[in-house]
Amino acid sequence: MATILSGTELAQKIRNEMKEELAELKKKHNLVPSLAVILVGDDPGSISYVKGKEKACAEVGIDARKYKFDADYPEGDLHKLISDLNNDPEVNGILVQLPLPSHINEEKILYAIDPEKDVDGFHPINVGRLMIGAPGYVPGTPHGIQQMLVRNGIDIAGKHVVIVGRSNIVGKPLALLLIQKKKDANATVTICHTGTKNMGDITRLADILVVAAGRPHTVNADMVRTGAVVIDVGVNRIEDATKKSGYRLIGDVDFEEVSARASAISPVPGGVGPMTITMLLHNVITAAKRQAGID
Ligand code: GUN
Repeated sequence: MATILSGTELAQKIRNEMKEELAELKKKHNLVPSLAVILVGDDPGSISYVKGKEKACAEVGIDARKYKFDADYPEGDLHKLISDLNNDPEVNGILVQLPLPSHINEEKILYAIDPEKDVDGFHPINVGRLMIGAPGYVPGTPHGIQQMLVRNGIDIAGKHVVIVGRSNIVGKPLALLLIQKKKDANATVTICHTGTKNMGDITRLADILVVAAGRPHTVNADMVRTGAVVIDVGVNRIEDATKKSGYRLIGDVDFEEVSARASAISPVPGGVGPMTITMLLHNVITAAKRQAGID
C-alpha cells in the first residue's frame, strides 16, 4: 500500500512556519503583507477557492482584501481597479480568480497586473523568469507539488518526471521548474497531452507521475510502474446524492487501484489543493518583503 502524501498536514506545517515568520516581520519591520483578491461572477468552484484563500490568509496573518463583482462587471472597470491596485503601496499582491466571464479578455487582464505584484505567477514576465531560472513568482500548484515531493524526502534530481497535461498553470510551469539545474529539481521531464499516442507506454516510464489533465479516470493502475510516486492534481466534481452538497470531489487518477501499485500517492481532496494555496501565501510574503527591501 502506498504512502499517502497528505497536502493538508504538510500545508499546516508550512503555514505554522509562515505564522512565525509573519510575527517576526510585524515585530521587526511593522510589516503585514496584503493581498487583493478579485472575484468576478458566481462560478461555484471559484467562490470556494477564493474562500479557501481568504481563510488561509487570515490564518497566517496576511491581510486579504476581497473585491467581488457580478458576472456582468465591465472589463474597463476591472482594468481601472487593477491599475489602482498596482499603484497602491499598501497592496503587495494581486490575484484575479480564473476563469473570468466570457466578455472579459483574460489574457489582457493578466498582462495588466504589475509583475512585481503578480503572486499567481501568470504574467508573461514571470513565466519568462521561470523559463530562464531568474527570481520571480512561481505559480502555486507547480511550486506546491515540488514542495510536496521535497518535504516528503522524495528526491527529484535525475528522476524521470512524466506530466500529463500541458496547461499554462500546471503542466508547462511544472516542467520548467523541475528541469532547472538547481537544488530540488534537475529532473528529466516528459509532458503528455491529448495529442499523445499510447500514453500508457510513456506514463509507465515515470519515476514520478504528475496527472493534471482535468478529467476523471485519466490514469489507471495499468499506466503506472510499480513503485512510482503519483501526484494527482485533478479536482473534479461528481454527483453524489449521499452528500449534503450533492457532489464529491475526485481526482484524475483511479486512486484505489493506483495506490495498490504506487510507492506514494497524493489524495484528492487533501493533496495538492492545500499546497497550492500555501505557495500563494509564500508568494505574498515574498512580494511584501521585496517591496519593502527586506531580504
Ligand atoms: N483558477 C484555477 N486555479 C487558479 C489559480 O491558481 N489562480 C487563479 N487566480 N485562478 C485559478
